[in-house]
Amino acid sequence: MSLLNDLTGADSALSPRAACLRLTAIGALVAGTTGAFAYAGGWLSPGDLTQARIVDRFEQVNGPHPGFRRNHAKGLCLAGRFESSGRGAGVSTASLFGTGRVTPITGRIALAGGQPYAADAATTVRSLALRFHLPDGEEWRTGNNDIPVFPVRSPEGFYTQLLAAKPDPATGRPDPEALKAFFAAHPESAKAASLIKARTITSGFADDTFRSLNAFRFIAADGTRTPVRWAFVPEQVATAESPAQRSRADENVLFDDFESAVRRAPVRWHLVVTLGQPGDPTADATRPWPVERQSLDVGTVIVADTQSEADGNCRDVNFDPLVLPAGIVGSDDPLLSARSAAYAQSFTRRAGEPKTPSAVQNTPATGAGL
Ligand code: HEM
Repeated sequence: MSLLNDLTGADSALSPRAACLRLTAIGALVAGTTGAFAYAGGWLSPGDLTQARIVDRFEQVNGPHPGFRRNHAKGLCLAGRFESSGRGAGVSTASLFGTGRVTPITGRIALAGGQPYAADAATTVRSLALRFHLPDGEEWRTGNNDIPVFPVRSPEGFYTQLLAAKPDPATGRPDPEALKAFFAAHPESAKAASLIKARTITSGFADDTFRSLNAFRFIAADGTRTPVRWAFVPEQVATAESPAQRSRADENVLFDDFESAVRRAPVRWHLVVTLGQPGDPTADATRPWPVERQSLDVGTVIVADTQSEADGNCRDVNFDPLVLPAGIVGSDDPLLSARSAAYAQSFTRRAGEPKTPSAVQNTPATGAGL
């Protein structure tokens, strides 16, 4: 059979004109598919802000750290369960909110920034990412930070801020002029920065509060949609960093303290859901909601175990904020889809790279459930 016949699947029955038409159709299909990939990859619009450009910027600012998350690079895996109080069932049909329901969880605590071997510092933003394992393979993945609001309200703001806040190698601090120009162009970020700066810095992960910052919507059984934001509020009373803690020569002091706390007794947070009212900003994570909004304590997260990042545990998970169970949906916040796209890009790059051990090498209490 000739090459033409191989390509067209034709045999002697096809006329030269029909073979030519079929080849043109195949060519159009190939060009269309290539075009779709080029479009999705951002090659047709190099000026647009794509997930690839966002992740390139993390690499530009932090340097190459193959195998690690491009943000929140230093972390520790955890496991436990969520015990529902039943109080969320009236606002969301998500099965984990059912009365008496216990849902296994895995997750990760981490420090923001793209430096996997940086020493822990009290002021670095801390995070709590959780994965709720619901029946029938359904999941809820959520990443939460310990700040009251997010510093930017748009993906463009995030991209610009990353560079403006890049430490100058000479001083170790961001260039004040670059930061001034960023805040002048993003007044909402200047307001958010003052709220973030004024936050209480607690002694560690276990007594810290972690917030969704982005808004979502809960869907009730009768179809009612309620805008929500949530927070994981510690059961442990928050205290400030002690002088003894500050002077300890341990680069992983925050992670080590968390691991010791879990070994002593499970660490618990309440999942407190704030119900938004019409007019509360759902598409601007730099703005807090009024403090008098009603909130519901929908259950308790109980962390019973920790484990260093390794093959197949939380290291190889993408805590995409749009992986949601039935009963929870995203909002009109533009950060949500940008996060989803950027996390996928970061995940794809790191998944294909060689791995080096995490700086946080802790021994699991039991190793169970991770
Ligand atoms: C446009 C805005 C944002 C961008 C581009 C961005 C980017 C990223 C990237 C690239 C990662 C690493 C993902 C991976 O490799 O798995 C990450 C992790 C994370 N981000 Fe964001 N982020 C954004 C906004 C936010 C917001 C609003 C929050 C709110 C709490 C947040 C919380 C987190 C957390 C908790 C993690 C760590 C999850 C883990 O432990 O794996 N991010 N972010």
